[in-house]
Amino acid sequence: MTATDIYTPLSKIRPNDPCFCGSGQKFKRCHRSTTDRVVAGDLSPRREVPASIERPPWAESGGGSDRNEPDVKSADVIDRMRRTGRLAGDVLAAVGAAVAPGVTTDELDELCHRLSVEAGAYPSPLNYNGYKKSLCTSVNEVVCHGIPDSRALRDGDIVNLDVTVFREGVNGDTNATFLVGTVDPESQRLVRVTRECLSMAIDQVRPGQPISELGRVIESHAEANGFGVVQQFVGHGIGETFHTALAIPHYYEPKATRRLEPGMVFTIEPMITVGDWRARMWDDDWTAVTVDGKRTAQFEHTLLVTDDGVEILTLRSDGLWSGDGGQPTDPLAHG
Ligand code: MF3
Ligand code: CO
Ligand code: CO
Repeated sequence: MTATDIYTPLSKIRPNDPCFCGSGQKFKRCHRSTTDRVVAGDLSPRREVPASIERPPWAESGGGSDRNEPDVKSADVIDRMRRTGRLAGDVLAAVGAAVAPGVTTDELDELCHRLSVEAGAYPSPLNYNGYKKSLCTSVNEVVCHGIPDSRALRDGDIVNLDVTVFREGVNGDTNATFLVGTVDPESQRLVRVTRECLSMAIDQVRPGQPISELGRVIESHAEANGFGVVQQFVGHGIGETFHTALAIPHYYEPKATRRLEPGMVFTIEPMITVGDWRARMWDDDWTAVTVDGKRTAQFEHTLLVTDDGVEILTLRSDGLWSGDGGQPTDPLAHG
């Protein structure tokens, strides 16, 4: 084992490496908490799904999606997506309610996994392209696809929880960013503006609307607030598979001229940054972080284009957004 030294960037030191300070203790037991950057913790063993639960193809194969699924869904698929979407909204609300200082992201994964399975659903992320957990937990500068681990949430963090469930042969995909304890005003503003970006884009969803219009309103609201828009990750068609070929950019893309049609189902999931909008990947090949280490937030819904507008399929059972309603983690309750 090579000893890490004071010239090694903190983000490169693994939890079990000897601490740079020479104490002889593991980094995770010693100086890790002195860095503001999110660092990887330890993964818990793989969680099992009972054999009675219907699995998507990737549960066994560890592969990805059939991207050729049609963008316009049958009435039958839409009906099933309503029920699965609502479940995703309810699971996200319940896991979000467990967010607190000291709670590890692995504990949130355990809750998401258990609630999904108890509702007869398969947690879609599990083994999707080899992903090892049932939830994505993206803290502070993590843009998306953070892997739940032994890291405890700290007072002042923000954390995005991205829930996708598979039931009745279809997926529902939704996420929200939650506040951990007392969060600084700038981060609160980031979370509020990001939620507004999604809400404003949803308001533009109706038949005949070019896809580019969605990114246009997101980008203009983000930039009016001095924030950036991540380009590397886009919204996507969804249904029997997790990600279809249909792409929904969150920035203004003039080439996205395709017009929305009744029966189309896709996500909008803007990732908004305080600083630089460019992302880089950790060497786990999943965790995307901002290049400058500044914070980023995200909200996501799965949406159906109706004959005259939009239906949000991933609202929770009481019709609210998963993070809303006076919980301590409600971004709206923090002005
Ligand atoms: N839920 C994410 C999305 O919004 C995808 C997560 S893929 C996973 O598209 F493998 F990381 F779970
Ligand atoms: Co999605
Ligand atoms: Co998602």
